[in-house]
Amino acid sequence: MSRLQVLTSAIAVASLSSVAASGLTSDSSPVYGVKLPDGYRDWRVITVAHEAGKNNDIRAVLGNDIAIKAFRDGTRPFPDGTIIARLAYVYESSAENDKVFPAPQSFVAGKPTNVQISIKDSKKYANTGGWGYGQFENGVANPSEPLIKTCFACHAKLDASKDFVFSHYSP
Ligand code: HEC
Repeated sequence: MSRLQVLTSAIAVASLSSVAASGLTSDSSPVYGVKLPDGYRDWRVITVAHEAGKNNDIRAVLGNDIAIKAFRDGTRPFPDGTIIARLAYVYESSAENDKVFPAPQSFVAGKPTNVQISIKDSKKYANTGGWGYGQFENGVANPSEPLIKTCFACHAKLDASKDFVFSHYSP
């Protein structure tokens, strides 16, 4: 190994261990250290939403068992352990489906865009109303700190009775 190689591998090891020391890895969000929860794709539906404009997506909002129970019972604030996953997809018209209709009318989920996670831990995330946030693309945490800081800033615009959650349960 050349001196340069030794130096670069030493730097690589040093930066890896500082990442490990901070508890943040590429599979967890900056600031909050939120990971994509195991099995979230099998969770039950809270509601669906569509955003036009720049997002132009269609989204499913899913919750773990604690979240579903809290939504159904109307429990606010949400209990610790609540996790809500918001899965967004490109909103696109379906030529395939439209063939069976008299006029174009069918819109469906295209490619996934991102998954956003809100997780309640009132002690760990005391500074942000008890909520930690993460955004993931293709299973990888988005590393942007400015992006992750927009989450609570916007959700905090809701009044306290909502506990920083926009979605309503759709029966
Ligand atoms: C400009 C405001 C805004 C920003 C910024 C924002 N959200 Fe939201 N979020 C919303 C709105 C409005 C909804 C409900 C409607 C929807 O899903 O389109 C929502 C829904 C959610 C949901 C479903 C549960 C709920 O609260 O309704 C999650 C989870 C979520 N956002 C996480 C995040 C994360 C993580 C970030 C940051 C990466 C973020 N949000 C940034 C406005 C925002």
